[in-house]
Amino acid sequence: MTINLKGRSLLTLLDYSGDEIRYLLDMAKDLKDEKNRGEAHQRFAGKTIALIFEKRSTRTRCAFETAFGEEGGHPVFLSGQDIHLGVKESLEDTARVLGRMFNAIQFRGFKQTTAEVLAQYSGVPVYNGLTDDFHPTQALADIQTLEENFGPSKGKKICFIGDGRNNVARSLMVICAKLGIHFTVIAPPSLFPDATLTGKCRALAAESGARLEFSPDTASVEGADALYTDVWISMGEEDKKAERTKLLSPYQVNQTLMNKTGRKDSIFLHCLPAVKGEEVTAEVIDGPQSRAWDEAENRKHTIKAVMLATMC
Ligand code: CP
Ligand code: NVA
Repeated sequence: MTINLKGRSLLTLLDYSGDEIRYLLDMAKDLKDEKNRGEAHQRFAGKTIALIFEKRSTRTRCAFETAFGEEGGHPVFLSGQDIHLGVKESLEDTARVLGRMFNAIQFRGFKQTTAEVLAQYSGVPVYNGLTDDFHPTQALADIQTLEENFGPSKGKKICFIGDGRNNVARSLMVICAKLGIHFTVIAPPSLFPDATLTGKCRALAAESGARLEFSPDTASVEGADALYTDVWISMGEEDKKAERTKLLSPYQVNQTLMNKTGRKDSIFLHCLPAVKGEEVTAEVIDGPQSRAWDEAENRKHTIKAVMLATMC
């Protein structure tokens, strides 16, 4: 099958087929191998990308800037504080202007609709670098890391423990449902992913063979290849700290929980940044089962794959 993603945006992953996601993951693996062999290329020479950040970022910003810059491209960082993003001029007009000057746009911020409007009006590929709703480039790096440890991901089991409503959990559920990876959210029921997205993912899972499960019981980690967690309080939800901490304290990923998989080779994943002592203990994230640092590196390879596939 010929896959051609040129000109496509990456907003949620919902609109990418399993084969298209597979294509990006295979490309990311090749790019990582190439980098490890010391090969250098200039595939973004003469191109520019606008990197818009309304929210903070370490990994996503650095992955986009280094992946694009080291191949001859010119990334331009635009803080939401410095440009007229929805202030003074309409978002549609900003999108039209950016589309005249850049080959692509990365957007990290609050509303998913901002990324969608940028894509609709700019005429260039727009990459969602995290919104309140989705974090699709993160999900690609997560699966690359899973596959580095266990080979083909179909039929493997990932448990997400924590705030199952958040952007990271939602994108992970989407990619698992598309690729046939069994996915279990372990959280208090009030923090399970919303019914609309769950319904869409159940339909995708029925096609791919993925099993989607939602459980308040940490015993559900049994047999898992990977335990995954994220911060209890996402950016923009700082006022929820007390309530969230109370709800999620029994769901900390510590060594006792890792041992409940019943497997010595289970790995620990975290999108980072991590609050050690809250959602995960230092013993686990800094311990031998953690692959969080490989996962962070893989942000760069997967993001480079997305840019190459859609821009070049
Ligand atoms: N995982 C992730 O998106 O990290 P940053 O917030 O540092 O970009
Ligand atoms: N859920 C977290 C992810 C950070 C990469 C947040 O949105 O803050």
